[in-house]
Amino acid sequence: MNQTRTIVLVAGARPNFMKIAPIAAALGRRAGTFGSLLVHTGQHYDDKLSQVFFDELGIPRPDINLSVGSGSHAQQTAGVMVAFERVLLEQAVDMVMVVGDVNSTIACALVAAKMGVPVAHVEAGLRSYDRSMPEEVNRVLTDQISDLLFTTEASAEGNLRREGIDSTKVHFVGNVMIDTLLAHRERARATKTGDALGLSDRGYALLTLHRPSNVDDERAFDRLIQGLEAVAADVPIVFPVHPRTRPAITRSRRATDMVAAGRLRLVDPLGYLDFVGLMERARVVLTDSGGVQEETTILGVPCLTLRENTERPVTITHGTNRLVGTDPAALAAAWTAVKASSAPAEHPPLWDGRAADRIADVLAGFFGEPEASK
Ligand code: UD1
Ligand code: UDP
Repeated sequence: MNQTRTIVLVAGARPNFMKIAPIAAALGRRAGTFGSLLVHTGQHYDDKLSQVFFDELGIPRPDINLSVGSGSHAQQTAGVMVAFERVLLEQAVDMVMVVGDVNSTIACALVAAKMGVPVAHVEAGLRSYDRSMPEEVNRVLTDQISDLLFTTEASAEGNLRREGIDSTKVHFVGNVMIDTLLAHRERARATKTGDALGLSDRGYALLTLHRPSNVDDERAFDRLIQGLEAVAADVPIVFPVHPRTRPAITRSRRATDMVAAGRLRLVDPLGYLDFVGLMERARVVLTDSGGVQEETTILGVPCLTLRENTERPVTITHGTNRLVGTDPAALAAAWTAVKASSAPAEHPPLWDGRAADRIADVLAGFFGEPEASK
């Protein structure tokens, strides 16, 4: 006889919300087979980093908010663990599903694994091979203790094989972030953020920066801004500022000068629809974000990644992404190349808006529900 399985969906930080939205919806379409319990860890808590995405993407209100907030890595990870353990002690659940690579991801996976609750990891197997990135540590450890590993691109499977992960646990399902993008693209197109900022289509660059290696160190940040001068000489740069990055801008004379000259336009973190709308009409997107590399690939907008590595190589082989690094001369050269070319791109395999349904199918198989709808 069929039994309803309760899946805990964990979300904590901005990029988690776009990933959880289609999964919650796919499980909702299979009510009776699955029930979900949405846990917000509270890693991100400002409205502009959290609530706005629930409102825009129609994510159900979290059943539980752990309200953990900011802190050092140990404080934040431990805070989530202690609070999440209480949840699992109090609730009868069949699986914990975590997404991405943030501290909330590893914290909840670790608690579940130790309590004997199966763990599913969405966006498994991505590797930058740079252990100085906190996310890389979170990825490697989460994958080691997961029972189901859902991958977004072919590179992930090889990475997991090399780490000794049993291939029967690994399922190539596509990209839930792209499910969300495709579902909301038309609404994003209808936003008028560019007009409100006085920007013409293809007449501006869009910038996001929040990786510790780029924004926590004063000299590294200054060097990046120096590289951006080549872009700013041609088009204004719109910069929705992540809270982590705010102090770096205030400290950097080069950045404040660029702001004063009107070439760097600082705005608060944007809602998803406004941000996607701005991405789609930009001449170029400059970023150190993981998700933005993927979204620009589907939108067909050139993306320059201001990092030395990427865990998402398919965005380069199939997409519009170029790995530029942080050297000012390299950024100037990449911008010249962008101006000289259009950005034809293929859609990576299975980035088709149906990843969450494939995940639900695999879950049904995992729990012995072979009649899962396709
Ligand atoms: C986190 C993730 C990173 C992800 C990013 C997405 C980890 C280790 N890092 O980085 O992988 O790419 O989220 O945006 O999990 N702050 C606020 N308001 C908030 C949240 C944070 O002001 O709502 C400020 C606090 O000063 C905090 C700082 O931002 O100390 C950093 O927040 P934190 O969640 O620790 O890391 P992120 O840099 O946001
Ligand atoms: N994003 C947004 N508003 C912004 C900047 C980014 O809605 O001002 C979205 C972006 O479209 C993508 C996600 O946030 O869906 C990426 O999150 P982030 O860059 O914070 O994290 P990462 O992907 O690097 O982990």
